[in-house]
Amino acid sequence: MDNIQLIILDAQKEIEQVSSKAVLTQIRARYLGKQSPFNSLLSQLKSLPNQQKAEFGKKLNLAKVELNRIFDEKFNFLTDLEIQKKIEEEKIDISLPGYKLERGSKHPCQLIIDQIEDFFLQRGYIVKQGSDVELEKFNFEFLNIPKDHPSRDMQDTFYISDDLLLRSQTSGMQAHTMQEKNGIGPIKMICPGKTYRRDDDRTHSHQFSQCEGLVISEDCNLACLMETLTEFLQFIFGKNRQVRFRPSYFPFTEPSIEADVSCFECNGKGCDLCKHTGWIEVLGAGMVHPNVLRLNGFDSNKYQGFAFGVGIERLAMLKYGVDDIRKFFNNDIAFLKQFSKEN
Ligand code: PHE
Repeated sequence: MDNIQLIILDAQKEIEQVSSKAVLTQIRARYLGKQSPFNSLLSQLKSLPNQQKAEFGKKLNLAKVELNRIFDEKFNFLTDLEIQKKIEEEKIDISLPGYKLERGSKHPCQLIIDQIEDFFLQRGYIVKQGSDVELEKFNFEFLNIPKDHPSRDMQDTFYISDDLLLRSQTSGMQAHTMQEKNGIGPIKMICPGKTYRRDDDRTHSHQFSQCEGLVISEDCNLACLMETLTEFLQFIFGKNRQVRFRPSYFPFTEPSIEADVSCFECNGKGCDLCKHTGWIEVLGAGMVHPNVLRLNGFDSNKYQGFAFGVGIERLAMLKYGVDDIRKFFNNDIAFLKQFSKEN
């Protein structure tokens, strides 16, 4: 075996054992760089007879080419191994179940608002939006409730300043709408929105929602109001519900009425839900007081109108059998989930 072959064999042995690319590069430099054993063989070239010179030179070159090939092969092998290892390490287990994204659903109060809007939009009403922060004048004064009026006590609310408050009812939107119309009817509007009062128990919350309704025209009367409310309540609670009206009092309507529906639980016989009366109170309404028409720029000799106000949570509690109003605000997913099928 000549020297050239021995060098290749030595190199092969070293290459076989190496498992790092950095070490392999060092070995390669040692065998093929400036200090390579081939170079010292090259110095023997001079002392060879001429005809052997060419042959030896050729052999030397071939040996270098061969050694390069062996190094490349090992280098590629180690590169493949590295990639393989990386793939193993970064492997994603696609058999693991992913995180479940919870799907939201409409809040029960929103479901009721949607139904109210459905009903009234079909009858030509427009839907208005008021603001939670209201001028004291619109919440009370323009609704025929002057400063010293005792009915203010029943709607105590949160004051931001003497003349600015969180509205205790959506009725202020009656005044806003009338004033926007500059005394010219007709008006047919509803306005759902948040309202606030100093209340806190199972059926009253400091924050709740109402939907106001207002119709102003030259000829609408109490019969129109009663017919509208009967149809509306049967739309919400079902055709089997009976609706009755009782006289009531609100400073901004005259006459004023309250509407009851026959109890769903006992069908009128009397039970705990209806406090053994057979009826459940659901909303307040009445003919717009002539003072309110005048205070808001309408001629009370030409126009008349009706208004109603309904508590959204109250409707939702009755329709869905919820026993505590606070459940609507607690963000309890288990509670809210029950309404997802309603969408
Ligand atoms: N705003 C009244 C309340 O909150 C309800 C109502 C509205 C009554 C419109 C008559 C007309 O009690």
